[in-house]
Amino acid sequence: MGTPRRVLLVAPWALLLLALQLAAASHVIHRSLEAEAAPPSVPSSIVSPLLRTGYHFQPPRNWINGTAAPMYYKGWYHLFYQYNPKGAVWGNIVWAHSVSHDLINWFALEPAIYPSIPSDKYGCWSGSATLLADGTPAITYTGISRPDINYQEQNIAFPKNKSDPLLREWVKPAELNPIASPEPGINATQFRDPTTAWLADGHWRMLVGGVRDTRGLAFVYRSKDFKKWTRAKHPLHSALTGMWECPDFFPVAGSGEENGLDTSEHGEKYVLKASLDLTRYDYYTVGRYHKEKDRYVPDNPAGDYHRLRYDYGNFYASKTFYDPAKRRRVLTGWANESDSVPDDKAKGWAGIHAIPRKIWLDPSGKQLLQWPVEEVEKLRGKSVSVSGKVVKPGQHFEVTGLATSYQADVEVSFEMSSLDKAEPFDPAYDNDAQKLCGVKGADVKGGVGPFGLWVLASGDLREKTAVFFRVFKDGYGKPKVLMCTDPTKSSLSPDLYKPTFAGFVDTDISSGKISLRSLIDRSVVESFGAGGKTCILSRVYPSIAIGKGAHLYVFNNGEADVKVSRLTAWEMKKPLMNGA
Ligand SMILES: *[C@@H]1O[C@H](CO)[C@@H](O)[C@H](O)[C@H]1NC(C)=O
Ligand SMILES: *[C@@H]1O[C@H](CO)[C@@H](O)[C@H](O)[C@H]1NC(C)=O
Ligand SMILES: *[C@@H]1O[C@H](CO)[C@@H](O)[C@H](O)[C@H]1NC(C)=O
Ligand SMILES: *[C@@H]1O[C@H](CO)[C@@H](O)[C@H](O)[C@H]1NC(C)=O
Repeated sequence: MGTPRRVLLVAPWALLLLALQLAAASHVIHRSLEAEAAPPSVPSSIVSPLLRTGYHFQPPRNWINGTAAPMYYKGWYHLFYQYNPKGAVWGNIVWAHSVSHDLINWFALEPAIYPSIPSDKYGCWSGSATLLADGTPAITYTGISRPDINYQEQNIAFPKNKSDPLLREWVKPAELNPIASPEPGINATQFRDPTTAWLADGHWRMLVGGVRDTRGLAFVYRSKDFKKWTRAKHPLHSALTGMWECPDFFPVAGSGEENGLDTSEHGEKYVLKASLDLTRYDYYTVGRYHKEKDRYVPDNPAGDYHRLRYDYGNFYASKTFYDPAKRRRVLTGWANESDSVPDDKAKGWAGIHAIPRKIWLDPSGKQLLQWPVEEVEKLRGKSVSVSGKVVKPGQHFEVTGLATSYQADVEVSFEMSSLDKAEPFDPAYDNDAQKLCGVKGADVKGGVGPFGLWVLASGDLREKTAVFFRVFKDGYGKPKVLMCTDPTKSSLSPDLYKPTFAGFVDTDISSGKISLRSLIDRSVVESFGAGGKTCILSRVYPSIAIGKGAHLYVFNNGEADVKVSRLTAWEMKKPLMNGA
């Protein structure tokens, strides 16, 4: 069994990466010297290595996107992902492969799934892993089989050597592939991303994403032996959303229970997620699964794929898996860049993954809760704390004492003195937190809030990304909480995409208390409101608030006092990251 270090030494792909890194090293040194030499008032370029993330998942270079087939096998976490071996833009897609003991330190292996058979000759797109009854992992994935159009077929692969805990080599049995092709009536360019299969009443089921007219849907495929698959007449579920990519379907334990369930275990409640190709966000519902009919019914049909998102920011093509080692369900997802394609080419890389999140059903039963896996806390270094500090209207204070806050983890509990001053909520924004945040950004004075953090801020506050709450009152006097990330002042660099991202937080704030956690990582701000009820990941590219130029503040732009009951900020160390 290879130790991590040996993995790096023996894998030719890793060696290649190492060579590429060495080749790039001279540029890196050159660039970082430039960045340090520049006076802080002169914006540095987006290609600065100080903006390359430190502890979020990424390979040493090139384009990455959606996560695929995350799984736990013989002591290792495996993560596969869409990867372009040839550049920092989408194309030439293969499945790159990394392994980890803790979901935080990663070792790169050679690509696991790459074009090699007629039904995947022009690309290996997303898919999932299923552990069969005897413990054998199977990968199902979408292959592109025609060069003129993106003709999609589903394929299957098995490990060449089941005793290899690193699962380095995969075989695609010719007698089985493809396992599902687009039949008449199915649009062959909109038929992809098989899910993890589950076993019910002696039959395996898996889903494949698709669309009919404008209804996004999840086709159901059934199999007795995991080899021959037949499509069921009805989809599991559908909604008026356009194409469903990367569906994900899994049972959850009872309301408020933090343990996860294996995908084949029975759950009182289930979650069905769809990545909506039109809006490029991951929406989900909580509902019931009727296995005799293979139908899923969301609890709240009115909220069908318009309301609940895993993340209200930059987060797409996610996948979950059941982790038997810690009896939890873990969510992995992709965040793309918000800079330009020429910048990505100049940087030589594009795309990261969110910190893996544990997910479970909220005590209300109405939504999920998400929290960074506990292993990320191993990266915490030096910390500072603030307690019982009141922030008056229009005031802010700096959190000092860390060498730098450009790679940090911040947890803060706020206490609002009173909700009396909350602004009236305009019902026109009922379903559109993002629009509301666009109008009422961090600098627009409010009643209760906006209050929160300015992260990756320059000392003169010309650059800052705001992560904040703002409380409204609806027509019945009931509080409505908005959580928002406002990057409009995040960078002096021109031509960046700086969307405000926001979601409502369905939390009881009658006590006046609300918490916020932000994982800050150079060009990522990944935030968790109210214990993981609402999450927002944003990509930002400061030009002066980089490296030691990055500061952290607490601000209050409302009319009511806000108390920081407790704030702790940790410097975050860099884990082993695929040899980078
Ligand atoms: C991968 O990226 C391409 C290009 O942005 C996108 O069209 C596709 O939906 C993504 N797929 C996954 C599975 O991430
Ligand atoms: C299979 O993997 C095991 C464990 O890594 C190794 O000892 C064995 O030699 C491998 N078998 C083959 C045929 O490669
Ligand atoms: C299949 O989907 C593509 C992409 O949305 C669309 O352009 C095409 O018209 C569809 N084909 C059919 C036969 O509906
Ligand atoms: C990626 O970034 C662009 C902006 O640069 C955005 O419009 C797009 O929707 C993003 N998300 C995905 C999942 O492609």
